[in-house]
Amino acid sequence: MKLTDPKLLAALADLGVKRVENASLAERTSLGIGDTTDLLLIYNHDSLPALVQLLHERNIAYRFLGGGTNLLVRDGDLPWICIQLPRREKDIEIIGNTVWVDCAADLGRTVTTCAKQNLGGMEGLIGVPGTVGGALRMNAGAYGTQIGSHVREIKIFRGSTGQLATLKGDQISFEYRHTSFAPDDIMLAVKLELPSKPFSEILTGIRICNEKRRSSQPINQKSAGCIFKNPPGASAGRMIDELGLKGMHVGDARVSERHANFFVNAGNATAADMLALIDQVRERVQQNYGVHLEEEVIVWK
Ligand code: EPU
Repeated sequence: MKLTDPKLLAALADLGVKRVENASLAERTSLGIGDTTDLLLIYNHDSLPALVQLLHERNIAYRFLGGGTNLLVRDGDLPWICIQLPRREKDIEIIGNTVWVDCAADLGRTVTTCAKQNLGGMEGLIGVPGTVGGALRMNAGAYGTQIGSHVREIKIFRGSTGQLATLKGDQISFEYRHTSFAPDDIMLAVKLELPSKPFSEILTGIRICNEKRRSSQPINQKSAGCIFKNPPGASAGRMIDELGLKGMHVGDARVSERHANFFVNAGNATAADMLALIDQVRERVQQNYGVHLEEEVIVWK
């Protein structure tokens, strides 16, 4: 979608919004799938209510784009523009055991920045691609760590009211790959409380997690991480593997040979290829295990 109305463009400029024309979502998502659309970069969080109101008044459909690492974008023309909160300078502030971090900050950089200040507890999240905001939305977790357990406060944009709000950590429930945020809540900044630990100990934890990930996940291929959530008490990856589905493909969308719950774009996969593969694998698991696998990846249809 392309914005053309000169009055709207002037109003956006007044709000300090930077417009990137024909921004490729294939280049902005880890799966490498998606057409182009106008992308609005908003550096000042306080302008968000006015921006959203402006778009509502003009009936312009929009979606918020985060790090794009857990996202499958539909094929073809995109009937909406995207809004993104870009990375800002000085996006991590550490005072004692408290860390305020912009949700646009890279999760891995946040983990290592805290580690250098002898703050641990997030070692397991090293190597989880994407932003702090994306990790919060899904309560990202790995190797026994989940980000939600460290949250004390969070600033959000509430889509339902069109206003900014601050929530205490205990006002949000963080469960396995699920949170109580509304779908149209946008995470802006979060206050984490992290335990003190010697740097060398944190580094050892980080190295172990990195090594586990390297040996069990296709980290150098285009993917959106795990495609399905694990059903209670079971592992989606193990079931798909046991059915012999590694290497199964639809076009260039392929079940990874390394980890069966990762579907990779091995070349020029389309969203239709990926969705067909998801359906076929889900069907096989349903038939053989009687288990319905739910997508973990977010799909923009
Ligand atoms: N397994 C297989 N074959 C496979 C993959 C896994 O037999 O192809 C077996 C493993 O040997 C292991 C079990 O299944 O016994 C579980 O595998 P793994 O330890 O890799 O964990 P997972 O449950 O598949 C979860 C998260 C990952 C996270 C890892 C490490 C989900 C859906 N996935 O994977 O998160 O990195 O644990 O903690 O919860 C993601 O969220 O995108 C993601 C990749």
